[in-house]
Amino acid sequence: MSILITNIKELVQVRETNVTIVKGEDMKHLPTIKNAYLFIDHDTIVEFGNMKDLVGIEADETIDATGKTVLPTWCDSHTHIVYAGDRTQEFVDRINGLSYENIANRGGGILNSAENLQNASEDELYNQASKRLTEVIKLGTGAIEIKSGYGLTVEAELKMLRVIKRLKKDFPIKVKPTLLAAHAIPKEFKNNKDGFIDLVVNELIPAVAEEHLADYIDVFCEKGYFDLEDTQRVLETGTKHGLTPKIHVNQFNAFGGVALGVKHNALSVDHLEELNPEDIDTLKQSNTIPVALPGCSYFLSIPYTPARQLIDAGLPLALATDYNPGSTPSGNMNFVVSAACIKMKMTPEEAINAATINGAYAMDVSNMYGSICRGKKANIIITKAIPSYHYLVYAFGDNHIDTVIINGQQY
Ligand code: NIG
Ligand code: FE
Repeated sequence: MSILITNIKELVQVRETNVTIVKGEDMKHLPTIKNAYLFIDHDTIVEFGNMKDLVGIEADETIDATGKTVLPTWCDSHTHIVYAGDRTQEFVDRINGLSYENIANRGGGILNSAENLQNASEDELYNQASKRLTEVIKLGTGAIEIKSGYGLTVEAELKMLRVIKRLKKDFPIKVKPTLLAAHAIPKEFKNNKDGFIDLVVNELIPAVAEEHLADYIDVFCEKGYFDLEDTQRVLETGTKHGLTPKIHVNQFNAFGGVALGVKHNALSVDHLEELNPEDIDTLKQSNTIPVALPGCSYFLSIPYTPARQLIDAGLPLALATDYNPGSTPSGNMNFVVSAACIKMKMTPEEAINAATINGAYAMDVSNMYGSICRGKKANIIITKAIPSYHYLVYAFGDNHIDTVIINGQQY
């Protein structure tokens, strides 16, 4: 099955060579072809160019994209979409004056989601997560990272990761699983955090590695959750078992989590709503990509990651949703890209680079995803007729997507 898309108003994020990350000044550059065509064969991008050069290509199906913009699907490198139920009551409690911290301190928050998750069957979890995944694909996500972390017991973490494994098998998009081994201190370990870390390093990580259920190891490195020493123990053990670090740092407090991540060759350090000048210097000497989650800042009314400081220092930046029941109950990458421009002063070019090729880098899949490049997976968004890709970012809150193509097939 082959598809020829013709008369594309603008084909966005087209790369002649397979760039796998864009940094600093280069993020301002988003290559496009106006009045373009794109040829897909089976699941692969085969050819593209200007309409005037289109000769000799015959396809099984032709899509006329007059007035429409075409871009690669979003690469969402940080989500927690496997969860049970929701936390709407805590949301209302926050409106009425409680903070995220207050709610966690009274035993709510992540512990609340953990209780729901422990009581849910694998099938219930799978069904809920499938709905979310289907929705985000329709919103243009074509590669996604999914974390565990609401289990907080060996058994419940394995259940979450098995659900992620099923999603990976059943859905056509790229799914990358992460063991978020230390997300909160379980009630049973309230006064014995070390005992919980012992369980994580002696039982949980080996069990997950044995079943090959995760590619990455994550920790919520934060005051009141896990300190640098805990994080170090988990990352060391994870690394020994073949898992690459990809960690939650600097969400509410900056105290050295970035340097620790870099020291352990983390693929990414995520959140960074709080950032020190030392963090920027450390990142400059690494291959670790910073990841910003503006949906979380929006929902919790906390600072936005200082994207300008990071990019102006020459660093790369990726954007992701953080889709989860507590801090970001939305998996809409279109909103994330708009919010990054509106609230973090990223240009549309920077934000689209951050949500495609750099998102792919943050999941280690940028050789096959994140740009329109010959030989890459045919994961494509065709917008409705819109004036330009700037409009996609500017007219926030509306769905501008007409068609999503995954592995060369309309979704
Ligand atoms: O990335 N910060 C830690 N974990 C999630 C939120 C977890 C929750 O509140 O359920 C996050 O924001
Ligand atoms: Fe998160």
